[in-house]
Amino acid sequence: MLGVVNVAGIPYRTIWPDPGGSAVGIIDQTLLPHRFATARLSTLAEVAHAIRAMLVRGAPLIGATAAYGLALALRNDPSDTGLAAARSALLATRPTAVNLAWALTRMATALAPLPPAQRAAAAWAEAGRIAEEDVALNRALGEHGCARLEQLARGHAPGRRLEILTHCNAGWLATVDLGTALAPIYLAHNRGLPLHVWVDETRPRNQGASLTAWELGQHGVPHTLLSDNAGGHLLQHGRVDAVIVGADRVAANGDVVNKIDTYLKALAAHDCGVPFFVAVPGPTIDWSLPDGSSIPVEERPAREVTHIHGLDSRDQLIEVRLSPSSTPAANPAFDLTPARLITALITERGLCPATTNGLRALYPELAPLPPLAATNPDLPS
Ligand code: MRU
Repeated sequence: MLGVVNVAGIPYRTIWPDPGGSAVGIIDQTLLPHRFATARLSTLAEVAHAIRAMLVRGAPLIGATAAYGLALALRNDPSDTGLAAARSALLATRPTAVNLAWALTRMATALAPLPPAQRAAAAWAEAGRIAEEDVALNRALGEHGCARLEQLARGHAPGRRLEILTHCNAGWLATVDLGTALAPIYLAHNRGLPLHVWVDETRPRNQGASLTAWELGQHGVPHTLLSDNAGGHLLQHGRVDAVIVGADRVAANGDVVNKIDTYLKALAAHDCGVPFFVAVPGPTIDWSLPDGSSIPVEERPAREVTHIHGLDSRDQLIEVRLSPSSTPAANPAFDLTPARLITALITERGLCPATTNGLRALYPELAPLPPLAATNPDLPS
């Protein structure tokens, strides 16, 4: 049960069940990096709030938290109506990360056939399995990604660091443990590969500056914070060997929706001939979508753009306004990176091209079958 990242010497995961099954503990990520505080969630309403207000965030962690939220809701109302109501309340919290719908569907599929009296205990156990599986997926994904990083570093002069750029936070804090995009980095660092991470600040909520920088620092991984606009310049000047990001939803053709600005980094990496990798655990793939064009993009409050949080000179957490008070602001939270800009997807089953066939080769039992006419050209369509 121990987490990969130590906080003040104590290994933590991002979510942990209370032994009695009546609550889960989480790290309140809205306070990082300035305060490390944990919170206890014991009701459906508290869990829904924690996801919506981003006390917990990151696609895999949203999924695991929602699973526990459903289990907590069933303690009060295990009826069919209670199950359906809790599922739709949690589903409405954030629209883009498909891990949310994936986890809730998995829970409902396991629980609906059971008599209501058995559902709460079964739900708690299933949520625990989802959390444990997330850790295992990330470790496997990390191993595959680490091998690719080691390959990229071969041929480098001895002691030359591998320079990796990442966007947003797809690390330990975005998952139950270890992370997706940061998993290969943690494993490579632990094994002595000299590396350095360029951390995009990730406006407007600054997940890079506040979360990625913090967790890399806790683990002792060399890193440097960048303004979001600086990545293209570094890529042009040969100062980035690879870009690795996470994903909130991947369509069956390899299109990726991830934190806003991922697309611009992919364009710049493509233009500069730098490999652009997306770390994707299986539950982040939406097999129902042939491409990414219909993936919903969350529109978040304008205040996240017009205002910013930080510490004042007396170490008090404050919010300040950046723009004129009457300035309207738009805040699309994610964007679509077309598959053609992606060098490879890093999954728990290995790396694959970001294509329908690439994904199908790794997940033959999950990928939709090609149309009959395409598999047998002799048949009329
Ligand atoms: O809005 P957030 O902070 O939940 O967005 C997180 C991201 O975009 C991550 O890159 C993505 O969820 C992958 S997390 C392993």
